[in-house]
Amino acid sequence: MAMNSVSHKRVRKAVLPVAGLGTRFLPATKAVPKEMLNIVDRPMIQYIVDEALAAGIEHIVFVTGRNKHIIEDYFDIAYELNDTLTRRGKVEALATLQRMQPAAGAMSFTRQQEPLGLGHAVWCARDIIGDEPFALLLPDMITHGERPCMKQMMEVYDRTGGNIIAVQACDPADAHKYGIVGKGKPAAGGFQITEMVEKPAKGTAPSNLYINGRYILQPEIFGLLAKQEKGAGGEIQLTDSMLTLSKAQKFYGYEFSGETFDCGSKEGFIEANVAIALSRADMAEGTRAMLGARTGMADPLQRARA
Ligand code: UTP
Repeated sequence: MAMNSVSHKRVRKAVLPVAGLGTRFLPATKAVPKEMLNIVDRPMIQYIVDEALAAGIEHIVFVTGRNKHIIEDYFDIAYELNDTLTRRGKVEALATLQRMQPAAGAMSFTRQQEPLGLGHAVWCARDIIGDEPFALLLPDMITHGERPCMKQMMEVYDRTGGNIIAVQACDPADAHKYGIVGKGKPAAGGFQITEMVEKPAKGTAPSNLYINGRYILQPEIFGLLAKQEKGAGGEIQLTDSMLTLSKAQKFYGYEFSGETFDCGSKEGFIEANVAIALSRADMAEGTRAMLGARTGMADPLQRARA
């Protein structure tokens, strides 16, 4: 692969891998996929689909696994429910469901028969993606900000092409939990990536910038993933193939403006619920009052009003 030989095709499709076991959320995930766990009033996966669509994505590829059929059902039309809501005059609830209904044919579902790792899950989407760049969004990482993370990345991609991964700063003491990048020279609104390491041993991380689960990747990644080499934790890691790709193609890090909640962890999941409730006009006041009462801290807004 020659440097800069990458195409600058438009990014039309997104991959959402949802085949993991979600062991950190057992027993909830024994019967309900992690990606269907609720944040305020909608499942995690809805936030991710909304983010992808807001970035101009036209087709979403889910990589599912055993016991994940509920995700497919969730995005289908629920005729009986719609009918009941209509008869009961629940106009607002019906409008919400209809607004969230994906266009016919805009989603594909493929299976990863065994959860062999994120790299393997992405590779399972290769035939549906074909020879095009694609977005990859990890459904258990919820991003939150004034402008959706993937939209910000698409704006960078429009200028640069190549591969882009979003990063955020974490507490250096937590770096061993994530994929971490090494930061090189500034480039194209972001920076060049010098290194990528999945779950570095404590004290060895090249920085505190972690990959927050949003990627734009060129299709050459599939050829590298096809080698199916195991990395950290005995899993086929995406990070290892991205590192190889970064030696051959343009590969940028982009410090996304906003927050990321790691909803694969219980603390991140709870924080996402609180942060999103506080950001919603219909929930903010009640949530602030409830938090104040629970934590014994006076609501700053009420204090100001008093
Ligand atoms: P995680 O490693 O965070 O999810 O993968 P997990 O394995 O389901 O959770 P724990 O660690 O056991 O609690 C990030 C995303 O990649 C998907 C997961 O579904 C999750 O959305 N994934 C992971 C796959 O689709 N296949 C895999 O083999 C691994």
